[in-house]
Amino acid sequence: LKIATGKSHAKIILLGEHAVVYNEPAIALPLPDLNMLVTVTKRDFGQIILAENYQGPLSEMTEAFEGIRQLINRLLKFFKMPNLAFSLKIQSTIPLERGMGSSAATAVAIVRAFFALFETPLSNLELQRWANVEESITHGSPSGIDAATAAHDVPVWFMKGNLPEPIAMDLDATLIIADTGVHGQTGLAVSVVREQLQNDPIETQNHLTALGDLSRAARNFLAKNSADKLGPIMTTAQEHLDAIGVSHPYLNNLINAALEAGALGAKLTGGGVGGAMLALADNHADIEAIIAALEKAGAREIWVQKYQVKRG
Ligand code: MEV
Repeated sequence: LKIATGKSHAKIILLGEHAVVYNEPAIALPLPDLNMLVTVTKRDFGQIILAENYQGPLSEMTEAFEGIRQLINRLLKFFKMPNLAFSLKIQSTIPLERGMGSSAATAVAIVRAFFALFETPLSNLELQRWANVEESITHGSPSGIDAATAAHDVPVWFMKGNLPEPIAMDLDATLIIADTGVHGQTGLAVSVVREQLQNDPIETQNHLTALGDLSRAARNFLAKNSADKLGPIMTTAQEHLDAIGVSHPYLNNLINAALEAGALGAKLTGGGVGGAMLALADNHADIEAIIAALEKAGAREIWVQKYQVKRG
């Protein structure tokens, strides 16, 4: 082919962050309204990247894009076309560095685009392995949840060392995600938990086990359209996450504001210690009131994802 595209979208951890590092399960949900489109076009010379934050030759991409550069070089080698002349355009509505898996989504869309260009079939497992080339360079993440779940466009159940398992989701509810504006640092947050576990092993392990139990309970409610039961599980998870030291005053402010404005539940998402929170609301709730409360409580940016079950 002369031109090919690859798509993917954002996703977010609903439950299980941090506990997943200690072998408890986590649940990640797709955010189909925040998406990524990669277009590869063959040309006569050059290897050109056209992204919002970088335009120029592949070979001159700076350190922040090292994962993507290496991924593309490995793909070209795999297809035995290391000198292929192309332009690769990345169009995305996924916010960067907000725990929504933007880098993994970029990797997935790039891999899909090149496999489409070379008209080669691609399994989910292969896609996941390819995405991991980029993710291990960009994040070196301890549980690998981002790379593992990026290849799936459906909700997944993830346990460290295992393949993610697509799970049923039958949910009429809205997720509201708000950014504290405080740059979350996943690596730092993971080390906070590791230290807590050394200093206070029994208590900390209890919180991690409780977080795993909440993921297990949530799986059922997610499949049975029980947002009213899922909400309180999220809020309880937040209490445990706060207890192991990964919340932040700004996160707590936003979480309380969302709950007071009528959310069914709210918690941090991803690494914490800043970063983003998410709230769950009934589709018939006053979503605008929750958004207004979050804005008033200092949210920098807000994203809304509505899930609706199509019933035949
Ligand atoms: C970060 O997205 C999720 C954490 O559980 C870290 C990890 O699983 O690698 C905090």
